[in-house]
Amino acid sequence: MFDHNDVFVIFVLGGPGSGKGTQCANIKNDYGFVHLSAGDLLREEQQREGSEFKELIQTCIREGKIVPMEVTIALLEKSMQEAIDTDGKKRFLVDGFPRKMDQAIKFEKMVVESQFTLYFECSEETLVTRLLKRGESSGRIDDNIESIKKRFQTFKDTSFPVIEYYEEKSKVRKINAEQDRESVYIDVQKILDISLQRSDA
Ligand code: ADP
Ligand code: C5P
Ligand code: MG
Repeated sequence: MFDHNDVFVIFVLGGPGSGKGTQCANIKNDYGFVHLSAGDLLREEQQREGSEFKELIQTCIREGKIVPMEVTIALLEKSMQEAIDTDGKKRFLVDGFPRKMDQAIKFEKMVVESQFTLYFECSEETLVTRLLKRGESSGRIDDNIESIKKRFQTFKDTSFPVIEYYEEKSKVRKINAEQDRESVYIDVQKILDISLQRSDA
């Protein structure tokens, strides 16, 4: 368990293809956050020689289902500890997590409480176009129309309630992710500049 006053976590949420990874790369560059994508960590674990979770992860990803939280939380916690131990870095963007209420509750109880959530809001119409385009080169087993439909359903049924939960706590900073990359990042910077100033005070 990390100290919430010492380890700073921003959750980054939004539908698949909303630009979480793209914007986290910008934030990492300009603000020095460590970027941890839950999906990337799961894909790495799925490819790791000797992993007992290979098949489970692959099936969940293809079907757009949420991997059992213990697996994902353990991967995140390990990466956070490594960043702290090797670089002394304590500011994290946790991208694509929590995607289910149980992940949110467990992570904040057992790892660290989040500061707030950046939510990239985007229509399905835009998301599907972006994901199919990304699928031309991503090599991802879930960037095809069948998996995309399943991922949208999971987002609506399972992940959106997490955003509503944090909204009730006034911990969501919403961004219009329909815009071009540069305009989205301008809005991201405005929010971060205000929020980080507050937390420094
Ligand atoms: P996520 O991590 O939320 O799934 P990505 O950052 O991988 O989303 O973005 C999905 C795809 O859309 C990528 O191919 C990315 O290059 C592209 N993309 C990201 N942001 C924008 C944007 N604002 N406008 C158009 N395309 C975008
Ligand atoms: O965020 P990304 O689109 O890379 O996630 C890909 C897949 O990884 C999700 O559709 C889901 O199957 C799995 N995932 C998960 N729990 C998370 C993040 C991702 O199960 N918190
Ligand atoms: Mg991503």
